[in-house]
Amino acid sequence: TQRIFRVAIDGPAGAGKSSTAKLQVASLLSFTYIDSGAFYRCVALNSLRWHPELFEDGNARHVSLEAPDTRRIIAKVAESTVVKQETERALPGSSAAKGTAPLMPRHRIWLGDDDVSVAIRDNAISRIGSDVAKLIEVREAVGKMQRAAATNVGSRSSGGIVMDGRDIGTHVFPDAELKVFITCPAEVRARRRLLELQKLSGGTGNTESRTTTKLPTYDQVLEGIKQRDVQDTTRAVSPLRKAEDALEVDTSDRTLSQIAHHIADIARQRMNRLN
Ligand code: CDP
Ligand code: CDP
Repeated sequence: TQRIFRVAIDGPAGAGKSSTAKLQVASLLSFTYIDSGAFYRCVALNSLRWHPELFEDGNARHVSLEAPDTRRIIAKVAESTVVKQETERALPGSSAAKGTAPLMPRHRIWLGDDDVSVAIRDNAISRIGSDVAKLIEVREAVGKMQRAAATNVGSRSSGGIVMDGRDIGTHVFPDAELKVFITCPAEVRARRRLLELQKLSGGTGNTESRTTTKLPTYDQVLEGIKQRDVQDTTRAVSPLRKAEDALEVDTSDRTLSQIAHHIADIARQRMNRLN
């Protein structure tokens, strides 16, 4: 089988991983993008669909994993979850070859025969996804799905994959051909997040803009980000950390496009050396 080139992109929440990976690196290299968090979200959605009794305390936003029975059930759900991902090709002629930002390609997620691209972004699913991602049994099952997704791509003769997440360079592909660790000070991430929230609450016409609550202050957003950093880096299973051999990229004062080109250039140099 043909060897594929794997780009692993990890980093804390809000550093710019998904916009960097999705938007550009994959399309610059003509690689396949794989969203690693989507697998956890699909396990969460199946848990809710197949075992509503686990959420019977009326709290569909959370699953308590204290009971060994619940752990076993969720582990089974994870093992039976079948996910497919596909990026719709960006229009030719709009590409970054011209130095302009390419159109954001649409990335679809399938759970069995169901297109769940929108359903898995639900807040309840985010919450449950982050609950189930703590279970070692789930991480192992999802790790298998993530590796299988990369292997499938390889057999369809694409040159490589770009996968973003928290533990791709450390656990999923410890031997990835290129590992990138995206960083950015919490203060910068807080400012970006606040800007995003402001845009969402000011927008009209989409469901996300139906915010009736008051916007948080900068200090509240910053505090939230710092808490999540602590959670991500100190959790027992697969904590977020930079792989020793990962290239560190700070996204503070560069545009997404500059960062994507930088990562793609390094990937090309390495590919040339391997060939
Ligand atoms: O995927 P991750 O949680 O790491 O972050 P993201 O959703 O890709 O990026 C968080 C926000 O920062 C988005 O609104 C990006 O557009 C923004 N961003 C930016 O403005 N400039 C960068 N160089 C990187 C990200
Ligand atoms: O964008 P956001 O960080 O909210 O979520 P995501 O990347 O879609 O991931 C969904 C959930 O899976 C999050 O709670 C992540 O912590 C978890 N996850 C993980 O544990 N390991 C990964 N490689 C990717 C996601």
